[in-house]
Amino acid sequence: MEESIKKVKHENGFTFITGASSGIGYAAALNLLNSGYRLILPCRNSLASKRLLQNLKNNLLKGIDISERVIAPVLDLSDLNSILKSTNRLLQSGETIDNLILNAGLQYTGSKEPRLSSQNYELTFAVNHLGHQYLVERILPLLLKSKSPRVIITASEVHNPEAPGGKFGKPACLGKLQGLEEGKAASMIDGFSKFNADKAYKDSKLCNLLFAQELYRRLESRGFHIPVIAWAPGLVIPRNSHGFFRHSRKYNEFGQRLFALIVRDVLQITETTVKAGELLKSLVTEPEYSKPGFSYFSNKVIRPGKRIFNRTEPSAEANDLQLAGLLWKKTFCLYRDYINMEN
Ligand SMILES: NC(=O)c1ccc[n+]([C@@H]2O[C@H](COP(=O)([O-])OP(=O)(O)OC[C@H]3O[C@@H](n4cnc5c(N)ncnc54)[C@H](OP(=O)(O)O)[C@@H]3O)[C@@H](O)[C@H]2O)c1
Repeated sequence: MEESIKKVKHENGFTFITGASSGIGYAAALNLLNSGYRLILPCRNSLASKRLLQNLKNNLLKGIDISERVIAPVLDLSDLNSILKSTNRLLQSGETIDNLILNAGLQYTGSKEPRLSSQNYELTFAVNHLGHQYLVERILPLLLKSKSPRVIITASEVHNPEAPGGKFGKPACLGKLQGLEEGKAASMIDGFSKFNADKAYKDSKLCNLLFAQELYRRLESRGFHIPVIAWAPGLVIPRNSHGFFRHSRKYNEFGQRLFALIVRDVLQITETTVKAGELLKSLVTEPEYSKPGFSYFSNKVIRPGKRIFNRTEPSAEANDLQLAGLLWKKTFCLYRDYINMEN
């Protein structure tokens, strides 16, 4: 065990995971660490970073020295300045990133009012899409130093109005992206819908799929044929008071608890955090996911308590490559003041 850990440590670059301070990202990070990987785990603030390191220390297999294996820099995806500062330091370090996992995300379904990022963009869009695109543009040179780079993006089936998770409530739909032209004034990407936090989340996950497609296209046009994998973990609702729905719970405690009880305990259509973390880890480690190109995998329910993880078609809108290109360009315009780069 020790020997294999040492081998991996010296031969490989880092695996970079956003959103590893809790949930699926944390479960994947712990698993990867135990398998010998070196990790960069950006956290929203220094407290989250300290807690994460402590949690990892407490739960790692014996004999693994975390100080040599994990960096947990402060990087708040809701603040372009924080991304700029943090990535400046990373770029200076010149470390190689082998696997880039864009996993952080939030939703606050139930809120009647939009919440805003540090630069006054709607928060779901800002964290789940805008911050991630900016981050990727910044650290791409470190990824492209790798001999076998891979990008993995945690999306969701809710992006798809035809899928069970995307059918309820207002469907994902980005229209002509007019909201991005309005920039800070817009609460919804399409520019005309009334603010709806649930739709804002679905839209942001549709952005994740479009972003993945466009990232692959752009890399390929520069001669980099690498795997760009989007994936959907399924519905993950832990029994504790944490988890992805903790923000939404503030707006509708009873409704959210009832929903969790029905889907997790009655219908048994949820996935555990540990298993979702294993799936994320497998996207990094398993050779079957190393094929160059864009692909989308989903962890689908086939009957109560039983799931299957396989390649899936994204929604028709997520396959609109023109829209993908336009989204990239318009998103770029939102952060270009913060970065000196060619579009
Ligand atoms: N849970 C589900 O049912 C489900 C289903 C489909 C897709 N997903 C996707 O899976 C991904 C992970 O979700 P999860 O279930 O593991 O939920 P989670 O436990 O809430 O994890 C979300 C992670 O994102 C981080 N994050 C949020 N805002 C951030 C910011 N401004 N800057 C930096 N990091 C930030 C959180 O950090 P803090 O701990 O500091 O908040 C946390 O580490 C998300 O992209 C989500 O959309 C989840």
